[in-house]
Amino acid sequence: MVKVVSPDDGDVFGSLVLCGEDCNWDPVVFDMLIKAYVKANMIEQGFGTFRRSVEVGFVPSVVACNCLLNGLVKLRCVDRCWEVYEEMGRIGIHPNAYTFNMLINVLCKDKDVDKVNEFIEKMEEEGFDPDVVTYNTLINSYCRKGRLGDAFYLYKIMYRRGALPDLFSYTALMNGLCKEGKVREAHQLFHRMVHRGLSPDTMSYNTLICGYCKEGKMKESRSLLYEMIGNGVRPDSFTCRVVVEGYGNESKLLSALNLLSELERFEIPISPDIYEYLVVKLCEENRPFAAKSLLERISHYGYVPDIDVYNELILSLCKCNYVAGALALKAEMVNKNIKPNIVTYRALIDCLCKINKSVEGEYVMKEMVKFGVPPDTAICKALINGYCKEMDINRAESLLGFFAREFQIFDTESYNALVKVLSENADVTTLMELQDRMQKELELQGKMPCVPYLDDLGFCSI
Ligand SMILES: *[C@@H]1O[C@H](CO)[C@@H](O)[C@H](O)[C@H]1NC(C)=O
Ligand SMILES: *[C@@H]1O[C@H](CO)[C@@H](O)[C@H](O)[C@H]1NC(C)=O
Repeated sequence: MVKVVSPDDGDVFGSLVLCGEDCNWDPVVFDMLIKAYVKANMIEQGFGTFRRSVEVGFVPSVVACNCLLNGLVKLRCVDRCWEVYEEMGRIGIHPNAYTFNMLINVLCKDKDVDKVNEFIEKMEEEGFDPDVVTYNTLINSYCRKGRLGDAFYLYKIMYRRGALPDLFSYTALMNGLCKEGKVREAHQLFHRMVHRGLSPDTMSYNTLICGYCKEGKMKESRSLLYEMIGNGVRPDSFTCRVVVEGYGNESKLLSALNLLSELERFEIPISPDIYEYLVVKLCEENRPFAAKSLLERISHYGYVPDIDVYNELILSLCKCNYVAGALALKAEMVNKNIKPNIVTYRALIDCLCKINKSVEGEYVMKEMVKFGVPPDTAICKALINGYCKEMDINRAESLLGFFAREFQIFDTESYNALVKVLSENADVTTLMELQDRMQKELELQGKMPCVPYLDDLGFCSI
């Protein structure tokens, strides 16, 4: 076997030609070299070897050509594929069924399906009959392009020509039908397939189940899922996901949860992302406690939520004003070494300030600073507005200065909120003094004072 060491390891081909002059050798080594390059994923070198072999007058075998084509298809080097094919024709290498099926695959991916028909005619002239693989490639391609009529025409031809449709053909057709919203017809086709003695596999069940889910027909999806289990075909993570998502889209989260419990009883493994989907969905529907208890349940299986899931829960708890629960979750995060981020802190501070607990909000803000997460304008707004609402004007002012000094956050809106409370509750002198102090603060920061000023009526504008 030719050992391919590395792409730059000298000129293997040249060395072989050279040594061919001195000793008794078999040009089949070029074949082996092509195959070895492709096997080592050095497709470019394989292609180069193919070309140079042809140049020195060696005719590679069809197997080596197929091997090279396969490598080129995987890299999506379509033009190179046709170069190889044309070269094969020129020097008289006869393609076999495998060659043709690969090229039909290439054609279906990149060109008009009509061009494929020309190619097939040519294939038939060469004496090849399209086999199941050929037909399946074509049917799949037609279905993807929404040309169901053509796909079904081929399906009928298959019978006539004795290339009987297999599971793949049926699944492709069912998929095509489902995409057009014809899931009932797909189900009929499924029955026909079973009737013709084919045993449906996970893929074919999934196609149909997915079709029903997308149409919100959850009863049908569910009974197919049970039929599947009953027939000994195990649902995979796609099946579980699509059914749970189907329920989720119909806002039937309880049904989804019940289904998962039943699947667990059948010892069907549920992947963590499905649970995660449900946790987030429950949060979105303002059911943070249900989300939390689901989270606790799956934590027993070793599931560890990431920061995004925690944040969803905290946001949801805050939205429902359960700030104590949200704070407890944050503490749990810290305990598990998951560092809360700006999203976590923003939600908590916002919530605390809304329920007149701005002092606690400020405390949380100090904590985030301590943990190296700088606050943003939204947090500044929440705290200043909170203090203003609670009439704690001194704290509001001192915080405004703090944000400007420590984080270069100069928020006009927060400043205006403070001025507004003052103008309603204090005399003009106090107000002017505040303006002076803020001006100085800004000048200290090297900022040109772009602070709002008060007009004669005491209204604030920029
Ligand atoms: C659920 O809805 C999402 C968003 O609209 C959609 O992308 C997804 O395909 C739907 N899933 C199912 C199973 O219906
Ligand atoms: C917060 O205080 C304001 C002003 O005193 C009051 O109107 C509001 O109802 C309070 N909000 C809550 C959630 O306690």
